[in-house]
Amino acid sequence: MDRIRIRGGRPLDGTIAISGAKNAALPLMAAALLTEERLALDNVPALADIETMAVLLGQHGAETTVAADAGGRTMTLHARTIRDITAPYDLVRKMRASILVLGPLVARVGEARVSLPGGCAIGTRPVDLHLKGLALLGAEIVLREGYVEARAPHGLKGARVSFPMVSVGATENLLMAAALADGETILANAACEPEVSDLAHCLVAMGTAIEGIGTGTLRITGRKHLRGARYAVLPDRIETGTYAMAAAITGGDIVLAGARLDDLTAVADKLVEAGVAIERTADGFRARRRRGASLAAVDVTTEPYPGFPTDLQAQFMALMATASGASRITETIFENRFMHVPELARMGADVQVQGATAFVRGVARLKGAPVMATDLRASVSLVLAGLAAEGETIVNRVYHLDRGYERLEAKLAACGADIERIGG
Ligand code: UD1
Repeated sequence: MDRIRIRGGRPLDGTIAISGAKNAALPLMAAALLTEERLALDNVPALADIETMAVLLGQHGAETTVAADAGGRTMTLHARTIRDITAPYDLVRKMRASILVLGPLVARVGEARVSLPGGCAIGTRPVDLHLKGLALLGAEIVLREGYVEARAPHGLKGARVSFPMVSVGATENLLMAAALADGETILANAACEPEVSDLAHCLVAMGTAIEGIGTGTLRITGRKHLRGARYAVLPDRIETGTYAMAAAITGGDIVLAGARLDDLTAVADKLVEAGVAIERTADGFRARRRRGASLAAVDVTTEPYPGFPTDLQAQFMALMATASGASRITETIFENRFMHVPELARMGADVQVQGATAFVRGVARLKGAPVMATDLRASVSLVLAGLAAEGETIVNRVYHLDRGYERLEAKLAACGADIERIGG
């Protein structure tokens, strides 16, 4: 299994081109199941999760081709017919986002059979909101032998779905289902994450009418047929935030090319509060910390968009582990999303967890150590800690990073990091 070796302590300096967002690309790819025409997606990142989704869509009957050019990868998906309605356990267990095929399949062919994703490292993560929403649109849902079986032989019908809590995935599944449902669907308390809006804009390009994009109430007018389209995936705000924090933790200066600062307002505010300078550039922004200037301790609470994203909580904790003073980091989206804490502690971080809150007391210097993590964002927080630490850090289980960070070592090395992948 590959590992990453980092020799820390070098300030990073340079430009990093931000990739297309994994969490936008995955639902956009699933949307290809809604039409018999081609859906071309520009700016699709080369990541393990994207590959898993392409394999899953292939199983359902979509042909996928990828062409690379200077501006990123273009993926063309063509689901002329739906060949198989089953999303098997072996694929779904690799990636929870596989559940996103449920809505499009039921909407297009009136049936779907999708393995339940089961538990995962960051909590139980149920899919009840996806299922209740689809039931409101008229799908009959049965759970059998670990699979969700959904049927709507006469098609889905528009309805009002009011989510009891904000769910990105459930909003996306319902948006896609509603796009081919008969009549109008209203999604209330919908997630307003930029990735949800990206999907909504693509569905509009495919022929759906959607009002309220970017707000918590989406009003969708379904169509009998959707057409193909060409759509560019938005830049990855989590990758952007991660590298802005890499600049901050190393006392460096990084230009994030192609990034959208407006999608990261809550994060930028916290970074500025901590003493990081953020300046817009022609096509992105620049994050830098004066060499030698210490970081101030800042409290953070994760929230649905536009609040501080849970997917940057672990990275921010690494940053606060080196700040001067004490900060409080509260996780409200997922239970059990502090698995990076014991690993950061192995590197000398001083963190006490009480329930959903981590109390972080900054230390003067982290120390390199062999570490490993059980999820994507936790792993990258250890990379950040390693970049700032004295000595050598080995990050094990690199496959987590490959799920969500395109060319991580190359991008960091180009800014002066001493980082390499060790095979085997
Ligand atoms: C998506 C992102 C993930 C991010 C998360 C929150 C993708 C592929 N993944 O995950 O990176 O961390 O949003 O921003 O886009 N919940 C239920 N019932 C449900 C669905 C969700 O109780 O049916 C709960 C979850 O357990 C969690 C909360 O709702 O506590 C938010 O989850 P959700 O927004 O659905 O996350 P995902 O879509 O799985």
